[in-house]
Amino acid sequence: MRFDLMYHRHLLSQVVDCYRNVFAEFPWDEWKKCEVCGTKWGISSLEVLSGANYMHCGQEVKDYHSIQRVLEQIQDEVRAETSSWIAMTEYGQVVGFAWAFPITLDALVAKLGRPDLPATISAGWDHQNRIAYLSEIGVLKEFQRRGIATRLAQRRLEEQRDQDLRVGIVRVKRTPPSVTYTWYSKRGFQLVSEYGDLEDRVILARGLQGLSFERD
Ligand SMILES: CC(C)(COP(=O)(O)OP(=O)(O)OC[C@H]1O[C@@H](n2cnc3c(N)ncnc32)[C@H](O)[C@@H]1OP(=O)(O)O)[C@@H](O)C(=O)NCCC(=O)NCCS
Ligand SMILES: [Zn+2]
Repeated sequence: MRFDLMYHRHLLSQVVDCYRNVFAEFPWDEWKKCEVCGTKWGISSLEVLSGANYMHCGQEVKDYHSIQRVLEQIQDEVRAETSSWIAMTEYGQVVGFAWAFPITLDALVAKLGRPDLPATISAGWDHQNRIAYLSEIGVLKEFQRRGIATRLAQRRLEEQRDQDLRVGIVRVKRTPPSVTYTWYSKRGFQLVSEYGDLEDRVILARGLQGLSFERD
């Protein structure tokens, strides 16, 4: 269903939990971190960490994504013009989320730190300075590979087309190829910028006309 903070504030803490659980799993492993040495652990390291009393470098490890930070991110990104969707089980458990919002080229450069974006995007698409930034998508591990993200992405896409957004942008990890890198590439998203960092993060773009996540 569409997730609107005006009407669904009672679901906010579940969406926060879902986000934190999704990114605590492989391949992100963003569950706990040591603020001294920067090491991070996924939920699969629970036994190792509990065996060490959740201590590293002489300090207690911290949540990688604190509840407060995720709450702030959602409140910042899920605004009136944001296309935000959640997946729920018949028992009301939130098991997936996806949101995206319109952004200007200047704001996109500031957000992603890639000054080459205006040139590459303007060369490829008639974007009218309103780009659809595909910010977040995630599905709990136990519910993956059943088409839930596909349906969330499709609803999001249709709503953004209704808002007359013409080009979508997404940031993904290329090496090793993330599920989303392969998924978006297969649907015609093209490389528009690369970070050249250790995680090999890249930015992909595609016109929204003619795009569908539900069929090849
Ligand atoms: C990416 C993610 C949202 C996909 O959710 P999902 O509900 O399992 O996805 P779907 O079942 O709708 O499948 C979507 C596509 O991904 C593919 N896919 C999903 N999981 C995959 C896996 N583990 N390995 C390879 N391909 C996979 C599917 O085959 C499908 O591709 P196709 O339509 O071309 O056949 C989910 O894996 C996830 O939450 N990952 C962690 C969070 C994350 O990486 N978010 C994106 C950050 S940019
Ligand atoms: Zn440490």
